[in-house]
Amino acid sequence: MTTPVLPYGVVVITLFPEMFDSFFRASLLGKGLDAGLIAEHRVDPREFTSDVHRTVDDAPFGGGAGMIMKPEPLAAALTRARELAPAGAVSALLTPQARPLDQRRAEGLARAPGLILVCGRYEGVDDRIRGQVDETISIGDYVLSGGEVAAMVVVEAVTRLLPGVLGNTASSEDESFAQGLLEYPQYTRPALWEGREVPEVLRSGDHARVHAWRRAQALHRTQALRPELFAQLDVDDADRRLMREHPPVDDNELPTP
Ligand code: 6GU
Repeated sequence: MTTPVLPYGVVVITLFPEMFDSFFRASLLGKGLDAGLIAEHRVDPREFTSDVHRTVDDAPFGGGAGMIMKPEPLAAALTRARELAPAGAVSALLTPQARPLDQRRAEGLARAPGLILVCGRYEGVDDRIRGQVDETISIGDYVLSGGEVAAMVVVEAVTRLLPGVLGNTASSEDESFAQGLLEYPQYTRPALWEGREVPEVLRSGDHARVHAWRRAQALHRTQALRPELFAQLDVDDADRRLMREHPPVDDNELPTP
């Protein structure tokens, strides 16, 4: 595997640059910025308008409700973003009309030198902007008012994979989804809380049993909560035996609407 070039450069194109103030400064991301592992810029398409009203949207051709973001300010913002981003950065338009982000895709984006994210607002973006970016990204099958929160989701999913950004460099490799599995249940003190005990095996000190129990729980949980992911797994006889030996914890039975 190749060692990525640092800092990883993030440029967000948004009409609401201030939405990213606390996001970039907080937690791991803030540390990554302070440590020079990440660089971030925001570009406001409104700065690339030439009329007195600084117009960034207009009515849709063909009629209908809502306003559409005009292509010229966005294209000019993209040109500026490409000057700010590292060479080879991947550009993406955030839109629900796209393939949803998953862990594999986040891993791919983390291998690029950086990311240019175009946030759409209002009812959409002039579709010709799709031709100006490398890809389109959705974060799931629901509608947000704008791409800003989606861009934050992408930035967080990607930057936590960068070497040295995740506080614990140890391994994001065996966590949830990296293996196509949901994660096993975790507990901390107290061992007895509100009448509910932490499973005995986790307090046994028997590492092999803990490992087996965790694998079994990850499989049970995936089967109960994400049957479509479970169907994609190669569950062998050893896994099936583990699942019989270690029945699911009750909490998997929590209602899923
Ligand atoms: Cl990327 N944008 C918006 N506006 N809504 C979304 C989305 C993106 N992904 C899911 N819903």
